[in-house]
Amino acid sequence: MSKSKAQLLASLDKKFLFQNYGERFPVCFTKGKNAILVDQNNKKYIDFLSGIAVSSVGYGHPAFIRALHAQIDKVIHTSNFFLNKEQIEAARLISAHTFPGKTLFVNSGAEANEAAIKLARRFGKTISPDCFYIITFTGSFHGRTYGSMSATGQDKIKKGFEPLLPGFIILPFNDFETCKNELSRNNNVCAVMTELIQGESGINIADKTFIQNIAKICKEKKILFIIDEVQTGVGRTGKFCAYQHYGIEPDILTFAKGLGGGVPIGAMHARENLVHLFEKGSHGTTFGGNHLACAAAVAVMKVIGKKNFLTSIQKKGEYIKERLKKLATTVSIIKEIRGLGLHLGIELTEPGTEFVNRALAYGLVINCTAERIIRIMPPLTIDMKTLKKGMDIFEKLFLEEKK
Ligand SMILES: Cc1ncc(COP(=O)(O)O)c(C=O)c1O
Repeated sequence: MSKSKAQLLASLDKKFLFQNYGERFPVCFTKGKNAILVDQNNKKYIDFLSGIAVSSVGYGHPAFIRALHAQIDKVIHTSNFFLNKEQIEAARLISAHTFPGKTLFVNSGAEANEAAIKLARRFGKTISPDCFYIITFTGSFHGRTYGSMSATGQDKIKKGFEPLLPGFIILPFNDFETCKNELSRNNNVCAVMTELIQGESGINIADKTFIQNIAKICKEKKILFIIDEVQTGVGRTGKFCAYQHYGIEPDILTFAKGLGGGVPIGAMHARENLVHLFEKGSHGTTFGGNHLACAAAVAVMKVIGKKNFLTSIQKKGEYIKERLKKLATTVSIIKEIRGLGLHLGIELTEPGTEFVNRALAYGLVINCTAERIIRIMPPLTIDMKTLKKGMDIFEKLFLEEKK
């Protein structure tokens, strides 16, 4: 496909598609191998984005592809009326990697959070009819459906969609006192819900004491602690879940993104004592947990579960941080480097959009969020040689910027 073909695609995109994502980059990826993507002109790129933390095992991972091919050959979808071997195995693996409980499969992160919100409200009803409030935090992102959007602590996401779903109390992130005060005067809170690294608002990390205190007060008050692991889960931070860095025991986890390695799937995992609250007919989805999506999730979790795999993610993350820290000593536009595992952010002192465009021209796919935060989220399977090459490009970009 020539450049003019890319231009043609861009005009067809404008003609046939909603423009809610803004103008797309003039790049159409046609294939990939592990952490390398190839575009319409056969130009190669190092992928430091993974389709927004989705392509967790990269492109063309042999075991992943084998599992998908085998499943497509057998059966893709039958509905939740029937037993589903792949769904059972995916749920078993989620339990094994997190805590004993049960899983409900959906199709996206927003839907996983929607399920968690509904389950929390059902739980609240067991306390009192008015116990439906859920505390969430400023800067959070939980999705674009009405429930998950209303839970989200960013006005720009909700603008123009009012009236929102009532019942969310949005408090300052990393400020336990405010949360404690709210809980001491409001007996109608059924749950607290949070991300541990706020991905969309700029890789903002939850303080350990803040999270541990919330976990403690939720236990004392007998309310639920929901952790949104949609972006951080399934190995991204170097543990299967980010909550495992915090030494806490949440009641509900939500997943999506990396769980299916690119095949759409979401999941809510909850403790056994909550499962009865979704009795027959109370909640469901047609596609949720179909054979293909769950075969993908099983294949991804088998890769993540391999010996030393999670440690390798931590090591790769440390390598990136080290190189960036060195760079930051000479480059003034780097304000801060933060994150865990392969879920990293560089806060710049200036907007990062131009930086992303220049990176793309050099063959590096990155993303800028919250205006000034460059996110680094390569496939978890990226090899050290490719990672080093990607960091060389980063260095070149920053040093050029300095001139
Ligand atoms: C933490 C978090 N929760 C929920 C969502 C929504 O997921 P989805 O886009 O799959 O609906 C996202 C997406 O970016 C997310 O980062």
